[in-house]
Amino acid sequence: MRKVRAAITAINVFLPDYILNNEELEKMVDTSDEWIKTRVGIYERHILKGEGMGTSDMAAPAVKGLLEKRGISPDDVDLLICATVTPDMQFPATANIISDKVGIKNAFSFDINAACSGFIYALVSASKFIESGDYKKVIVVGADKMSSIIDYSNRETCVIFGDAAGAVLLEPTTEDIGITDSILKSDGYGRVHLHQKAGGSCKPASHETVEAKEHYVYQEGPQVFKAAVSNMADVTVELMNKNNLTNDTIDWLIPHQANLRIIEATAKRMGLSKDKVTVNIERYGNTTNATIPICMWEWEKKFKKGDNLILTAFGGGFTWGALFVKWAYNS
Ligand code: UT7
Repeated sequence: MRKVRAAITAINVFLPDYILNNEELEKMVDTSDEWIKTRVGIYERHILKGEGMGTSDMAAPAVKGLLEKRGISPDDVDLLICATVTPDMQFPATANIISDKVGIKNAFSFDINAACSGFIYALVSASKFIESGDYKKVIVVGADKMSSIIDYSNRETCVIFGDAAGAVLLEPTTEDIGITDSILKSDGYGRVHLHQKAGGSCKPASHETVEAKEHYVYQEGPQVFKAAVSNMADVTVELMNKNNLTNDTIDWLIPHQANLRIIEATAKRMGLSKDKVTVNIERYGNTTNATIPICMWEWEKKFKKGDNLILTAFGGGFTWGALFVKWAYNS
C-alpha cells in the first residue's frame, strides 16, 4: 500500500485594509524610501487597526474563507494549528480562540511558536497527524499582528514588519503529491540576537519594562542577517541533495519574506533563476508566520499539480528549515 501523505488542498489569506507605506514611515522615523527599498526590498505593509483587534481577528476570516473555498463545514475539521509569535493573549492558545470564532467544534487546537519558521514547523507537525491516518482535515494558520510588538520610533525594526494571516488545509492522499520531505532545525543560542525581553516568566510586565520599551522586538539585524543567509541556503541545499533535486527539477522556491537580499542569496546558492522564486515582500513586508502562505496564495494559479516546491524559512530562536512539497492541484 502507498504511504499516506499530507496534501495542501486549499489556501486562503486575510490582509488588513490599512496600508502603511514608506512615505508615511519617513514622517515617523529618520529613514528613507530609498534605504528601505534597497536594503530590505519593502514598499508597503498592511497593518491591523482597531481597538481590541488581535491576531485571531485576521486568522479567523482566513480560516472561514478557506473552508468556504474547499466547500467544507467547520464540523469536518479534526485539528487546527496556529503558528504565531503575537498570540491574542498569553493563554489560552490563539488556535483555541480562532476555532471558537469560526465555529470549529469537533477539533482540538494548539499554537506553535517558532518565530518566523513557525508556519513550516506547523506544516510538518500537521503532516505527521495526517500521515498517522487518524486525522483527515487539518488546518494550519500562520498569523501575526507584528504591529503589536513593534516600536514605531525605532527605525531598525519598524520599517520591516507587517500584519496578516494565511491558512492552508491539509488532507490525506496516496498519490505522489503532498508534503514529501522536510528538514527542521533550531539553535537556542540565537536568542541573544532576536527576542522580546519582557512579558515572559523571566521578566513579567512592570512599569519599568514598559518604560524601557522591553515589550517590543529586539533585533541585532546584521547578526540575524548573516545567520539567515547561511542557514537558509545550507538547509535548502541539504534538502535538495537528500531528494536528488536539481535547479532544473525544482519548479518553485517559496522563501520566508524577511529581506529581499536574503531571498536572492538563497536562490543564488540553489542555482535557481529569479522566475522560479516567489517574492512579494515589497507589498507586505515581513508578516512573520504569514509570509509563506501569502506567497502560495498569490502564486496558486501558476502552480500545477505535481510541481516541486521548496518552502524555506529562518527566524528567531534561531529556527530554520525547508520542506519539499509536491503541489496537489491545478486551479
Ligand atoms: O524574519 C525574522 C528574521 N529576521 C531577519 O531575517 C532580518 C535580518 N536582518 C536584516 O534584514 C537587516 O539586517 C536589516 C534590514 C534589519 C538591517 O539592514 P542592514 O543592511 O543589516 O543594516 P545595518 O543594521 O547594518 O545598518 C546599516 C546602517 C546603520 O547606520 P550607520 O551605523 O552605518 O550610520 C543603521 O543605523 O543603516 C542604518 N539604518 C537605517 N537607515 C535608514 C538602520 N535602519 C535604518 C532605516 N533607515 N530604517
